[in-house]
Amino acid sequence: MKKYAVFVFLCLVSTNTILSAGERDHISIIPKPAKLEIKQGKFTFENATKIWIDQSGELQNIGDLLASAVNSSVGLNLSATSKMTREIPRSLVRITIDTAIQNKEAYRLSVEPGKIIIKSGSNAGVFYAVQTLFQLFPLEIKNEISIPCVEIEDYPRFQWRGMHLDVCRHFFPVEFIKKYLDIMAMYRLNTFHWHLTEDQGWRIEIKKYPKLTSVGAWRKETMGDGKPYGGFYTQDQIREVVEYAKQKYITVVPEIEMPGHALAALAAYPQYSCTGGPFEVGTTWGVFEDVYCAGNDSTFQFLENILDEVVNLFPGEYIHIGGDEVPKDRWQKCPKCQARMKAEGLKNEHELQSYFIQRIEKYLNGKGKKIIGWDEILEGGLAPNAAVMSWRGTEGGIAAAKMKHKAVMSPGDYCYFDHYQGISGEPKAFGGYTPLEKVYSYEPVPYLLNEEEAKYIIGAQANMWTEYIETADHVEYMLLPRLCALSEVLWSPKQSRNLDDFLSRMPYHYEMLSLKNINFRIPPPTQATGEYLISEDEAVNLSSPIENSKIYYTLDNTEPSQTSQLYTEPLEFSDEAILKAKTFLPNGKSSPTSMLEISVIDTSENGLYYKYFEGVWDSLPKFAELRADKTGRIHKISLDQIQHAEDGFGVYLYGFIQIDESGEYTFYLTSDDGSILAINNQIVINNDGAHGSIEKDSTVELDAGRLPFKILYFERDGGQQLKVEYKGPDIPRKLIPANKLFFDIY
Ligand code: ACM
Ligand code: ZN
Repeated sequence: MKKYAVFVFLCLVSTNTILSAGERDHISIIPKPAKLEIKQGKFTFENATKIWIDQSGELQNIGDLLASAVNSSVGLNLSATSKMTREIPRSLVRITIDTAIQNKEAYRLSVEPGKIIIKSGSNAGVFYAVQTLFQLFPLEIKNEISIPCVEIEDYPRFQWRGMHLDVCRHFFPVEFIKKYLDIMAMYRLNTFHWHLTEDQGWRIEIKKYPKLTSVGAWRKETMGDGKPYGGFYTQDQIREVVEYAKQKYITVVPEIEMPGHALAALAAYPQYSCTGGPFEVGTTWGVFEDVYCAGNDSTFQFLENILDEVVNLFPGEYIHIGGDEVPKDRWQKCPKCQARMKAEGLKNEHELQSYFIQRIEKYLNGKGKKIIGWDEILEGGLAPNAAVMSWRGTEGGIAAAKMKHKAVMSPGDYCYFDHYQGISGEPKAFGGYTPLEKVYSYEPVPYLLNEEEAKYIIGAQANMWTEYIETADHVEYMLLPRLCALSEVLWSPKQSRNLDDFLSRMPYHYEMLSLKNINFRIPPPTQATGEYLISEDEAVNLSSPIENSKIYYTLDNTEPSQTSQLYTEPLEFSDEAILKAKTFLPNGKSSPTSMLEISVIDTSENGLYYKYFEGVWDSLPKFAELRADKTGRIHKISLDQIQHAEDGFGVYLYGFIQIDESGEYTFYLTSDDGSILAINNQIVINNDGAHGSIEKDSTVELDAGRLPFKILYFERDGGQQLKVEYKGPDIPRKLIPANKLFFDIY
């Protein structure tokens, strides 16, 4: 039964220990360039180095950016100039525009001893070349900057390389928005989707409607905390951000949500709702029933007046008009909305939503802008020129592309950075599980599209919803290192993507981010978590990809701190243990805690036999009468231990359980779908039937010894789980440890 996807993270504890300085000295550019050749020699910046640019203007800014980065690191006095001399300097950085280069974001970067040449078809490409050059700088700059000689030819795979930020659930000041843009630029992202309006706050000053911010930017509390909260950007601040982004070749796409997620606007101007209000700015998270009235012409006038000001602030091609999660309850009961449907011949409220979006699209097209909206804008008919942002999976993007509409992919499973990035020890997040590796594995072009249709997938983006993210530091934590993975998905050629290679380039970036005072999620010392089996001659290795980090651990179930045991060598165990470990950076920041419940087992003795069957049943079949598709041995009670079908299978586990002390034992059997637990050939728990996750328990008297132990289980219709715990004299409730399970009675 499908309920929630259960994410299982199978990962062996890495055998790497902490990297030494020398091992990290390879080229670590992220996103990986399309072509990179490493050559002999190096280029060293010196006072005699000239930075020559074709012309002043924007190129001057990029030349200055390079000069000041060098000057501030090593105390040189370089400047960029378009006044070139006849004599070629012996140390030269030559920045030039080559209009023959077709892709305007492409660049060539050639580093030789005494000469760096940057060529691009546009200033944006030059900017990216300089970003790449920065990633060739050494991390610890002592008294000179020397960079390895390379030949790079590079271009992006996608044109829309986006990152979104919700500033409505929580508000972030202009200074932080600039830092966010800096981080995006470092990784050659070019589209900032600024989510500016929501139920819980309206964040953009609109001169014609001052109450949007005097009322709509403030909520009386957040989730019952009793504390007023709010903030907004003035139009001057918006212009400042847009200009700052432009310097980084980032287009800002504002999102003005309609017809739903509009409670803050309606709190200020309730006359544009169906009921007339009154309303309060949202104080909790969720989807609210009150939306803009689609039957009222003055609603459209209101939105058009707002959009007039928005259009003047944002020079980009697209305005994002939201369109997601619009409950139709109010429209169904509103006489004006119903009259509109009748007058326009609209069959249902989905078509009314489509009418709404199409009317706004027409208005914005008239202003020279295109609209993009969340994939719900497909419902009831897509507006003729609209682009679709696919967030509820990939179906919306696929449908749009097949209709020859542009689509930006942002499916939750891979692109929602409000999801958890680890299994345990993480700060509270919205839900989901989207670790670094998962982001890296994302392929934006769905395989269901043919080559022609695939051209409509113009890129992808990750979304940062901030219900559970209150501080700038926390945004950075959720952003990084996942943004590094996203950037490679969006920029680098598909065939060059390789997770191990990517991870081998991350140490440079962890260190660079630390040096730049950018927060990030520090990888924990092991990605494994929960029950962990080792045999007697095995040791547990902990590792960190971050140089200068230290790992501390405990064995007494307490949180590791910098006064706990310092990890120096692989850990050996002779008995059950709980190992908690954490990586610490020199600045005191630490990773989430990784926890391993270690059982030491003898693989020749400890475990259960299994029989595996494929089939679809409503309740447990008589396994004894079926022919097993596969048999074998497992060392713990977990479906992960058996390679099984996605759907429709059963397993029969059998062996012995070691009971050390006679007494009362309670067993807990949780499964999706049905299961039975038998001890001493008696059914102890019957949890049979086609069902979602259900826990059942039962208490029995057991004598000490090795007792026959059986578990029967089946699964159908997606969703799968099997968990067996127990509690006994002096044993707190826990998973049955693997070293208590035996194949045989002797
Ligand atoms: C969304 O996440 N509601 C677009
Ligand atoms: Zn209405």
